[in-house]
Amino acid sequence: MPNTILVGAQWGDEGKGKIIDVLTEDADIVVRTQGGNNAGHTVFVGKQKYVVHLIPSGILRKGKLCVIGNGVVIDPIGLVREIEGLKALRVKVDGGLLISETAHVVLPYHRELDTQREILKGKNRIGTTKRGIGPAYSDKAARTGLRVIDLLNETRFEQVLRKRIKENNEILKALGGKTLSFKKVHETNREAGDYLRPYVANTVVRLHEASRKGARILFEGAQGTFLDIDHGTYPYVTSSNTTSGGACTGSGMPPNRMDRVVGVMKAYTTRVGEGPLPTEDSDIADLLHGMGREFGATTGRARRCGWFDAVATRHASMVNGIDEFAVTNLDGLDTLERIKVCVGYRSGSKQYDYIPNDIEVFSECKPIYTEFPGWRVSTEGARTWRQLPVNARRYLKAIADFACAELSIASVGPAREQTIML
Ligand code: GDP
Ligand code: IMO
Ligand code: MG
Repeated sequence: MPNTILVGAQWGDEGKGKIIDVLTEDADIVVRTQGGNNAGHTVFVGKQKYVVHLIPSGILRKGKLCVIGNGVVIDPIGLVREIEGLKALRVKVDGGLLISETAHVVLPYHRELDTQREILKGKNRIGTTKRGIGPAYSDKAARTGLRVIDLLNETRFEQVLRKRIKENNEILKALGGKTLSFKKVHETNREAGDYLRPYVANTVVRLHEASRKGARILFEGAQGTFLDIDHGTYPYVTSSNTTSGGACTGSGMPPNRMDRVVGVMKAYTTRVGEGPLPTEDSDIADLLHGMGREFGATTGRARRCGWFDAVATRHASMVNGIDEFAVTNLDGLDTLERIKVCVGYRSGSKQYDYIPNDIEVFSECKPIYTEFPGWRVSTEGARTWRQLPVNARRYLKAIADFACAELSIASVGPAREQTIML
């Protein structure tokens, strides 16, 4: 496998973790390039379920190098907890994980600011994961952030953190939030920094060295296209570039070294958090929630559910340069008689075949649907394309065609073996 970028083609939780795990078999290195522990990627190995937040999903395959790139924002305490959690499940982390020196650090004031700003927004809240992601990326852009390399420098960390706590406590007071004790924040994060020290490296140089020797690299996306800070449904987005360009800036690997882009999408649509979702439908939500599915891997919130939105995924295909699609959760539609697909939007007398940029206009958009006959038989046991019911094959081909890319993987269950490679 050449260098591959994997992105979410919808609003996150597309099943990227599962597909990354499958593609890791043919990769030497897996790199996370953006986001933080707002992400929750689920991977099943046998009956054991793993949910990773900051560590690349590739960690679950033996002998692969996993890299947390410079574009990620790292909560040091959260990362220590995650490493310990994996070790408790007998996953080998030592020798298989590198953390970028220049990744920014998420500190307790970021989480507190995230929470307070959401409260202040009231009904206009974004519905963030409250992991401090927005405030941490704000500090990065404002050039007031602390990086992993600073966390490891005793004097510098103490000096800068003292100033940052003082300033952020003033802001938190004004927002009505709770202020933080420098001593406690300093102590706990220093401890976490010391724990992480052996993993920290110049990941840009290490990746290029490995690449020159022929290593195959998988760039693992977090979140999804419509949560992208530039291309998503702003302001109902996260604070990083979740689209394919983020893989370059977030790793230091240039665009001309990337060979293909794989987009992951569900056979329907989900979104967790606020913001428009034109195809949202309570019947399909009840169906999926009733099956015990579509609850957030990070926050446990019930995900909003809707029909497949081909307008959105076509846009995702365009901005990411998606070559191939992996469609997951096909089995979620197994019981349906008719399946709707959104092929356009209508707002008043206007019709759109793209996502309008004005969030108020987009919120008013009603989907224009086309319908497909269901297959009404379980697909969970299918292991080859031929074993899928003919209507399921037609549906899969149609949604990939709408989205203008090749269908390369169909997933019919959370397990590794429930994967059909085309
Ligand atoms: P990610 O954030 O994109 O990695 O996705 P999440 O892990 O947050 O959510 C996807 C959910 O769908 C997880 O519970 C997966 O185990 C599950 N999943 C992935 N692919 C399939 C599939 O084809 N069928 C079923 N039933 N579940 C799947
Ligand atoms: P994975 O990688 C789904 C959503 C939040 C909220 C918005 C902003 O598992 O697909 P943030 O905490 O980032 O400031 O929240 O983005 N969000 C996700 N939704 N999957 C994710 O990650 C998400 N990460 C953030 O729910 O709407
Ligand atoms: Mg997720």
